[in-house]
Amino acid sequence: MTVLQHDLYGGIQAELDASAAIFRDELRSDLPFVNELCEYVERYHGKRVRPAVLLLAGQAAGRLTPAHAVLAAVVEMVHIATLVHDDVLDDADTRRHLPTVCRLSGNEAAVLLGDVLFSHAYHLCSGLESQFAARQIGRTAVALCEGELLQVSNRGRFDLSEATYLEIILRKTASLIATSCLLGAHYAGADEGTVRRLATFGESLGIAFQIRDDLLDITGDAAEVGKTLGRDVEKGKLTLPLIHHLRAVDARERAATEALLSDTGDDRDARIVERLRETDSIAFAHDRVRVHVGTAIAQLDALPPSPARDTLRVMADFVASRTF
Ligand code: IPE
Ligand code: IPE
Ligand code: MG
Ligand code: MG
Repeated sequence: MTVLQHDLYGGIQAELDASAAIFRDELRSDLPFVNELCEYVERYHGKRVRPAVLLLAGQAAGRLTPAHAVLAAVVEMVHIATLVHDDVLDDADTRRHLPTVCRLSGNEAAVLLGDVLFSHAYHLCSGLESQFAARQIGRTAVALCEGELLQVSNRGRFDLSEATYLEIILRKTASLIATSCLLGAHYAGADEGTVRRLATFGESLGIAFQIRDDLLDITGDAAEVGKTLGRDVEKGKLTLPLIHHLRAVDARERAATEALLSDTGDDRDARIVERLRETDSIAFAHDRVRVHVGTAIAQLDALPPSPARDTLRVMADFVASRTF
């Protein structure tokens, strides 16, 4: 993270700091309990991928305006709202090396705090002169929730297709990263083609980001990632490596893997990884990450050269190999 912030975010540091201040001011409450929770989730800032791509897309496409810092706060707030809710769904213990809100204060408080964060994000948008951002954020919040709903409705389905998996991650993750890029470019005064290209950059990056996240859930180091891992299998959520594996094996092996997925033994996760490796399913998912990162980077070729464009490229490469 240090590397990311110092080496990559130098050109947008002032705007990132401004957006962090907007984030903090917006969340202030006169109720001490609410205030404490809001102060707590401020420690949930991670790599700030969404505000960073919003600002970099803005710089790569034109000029940053005061609206950009507000929008950077908005996309981060929406993101953190989804994390607080997602940890309830996943019954997760740890986020950013800290207890999750649901562990700290219970599921009821976490659901309501997520709602508070979403509402603040809409409130911030409503203060902007144009309604463009409010419409885009509204549309994206629907997509995020639909993605999580689609995932919940497919829980425990061992026949989940790659197409449905892609639909889930497109909505629950890629939509917000795409919208971040789109807003950054739009508010910088970019032409339609450039806005569209940067939105596609964000969408492909977002798909790669989530496939990489799903790999980390299986093979990552919890101490480094800083969040509870292994919950995808635990919660019956099939992700790309398993989808590939189940497709690659014969009926007997398939039955063995499905039995393992329903197992509760201590060594289950290690045995699943072993089986995934036998069918090169981890490598397959890695390749898909690379393909989507490649699609993202190709969008940047049509933009004029700039330090921001270079940084977007480096960020895309980072997503392919990130370990946290
Ligand atoms: C985690 O996002 C949720 C996913 C979409 C996989 P991150 O926590 O890794 O993103 P940052 O660190 O806030 O940018
Ligand atoms: C949910 O996916 C991502 C969101 C959009 C909230 P995950 O469940 O994989 O996210 P993590 O691993 O908990 O961060
Ligand atoms: Mg989760
Ligand atoms: Mg995950």
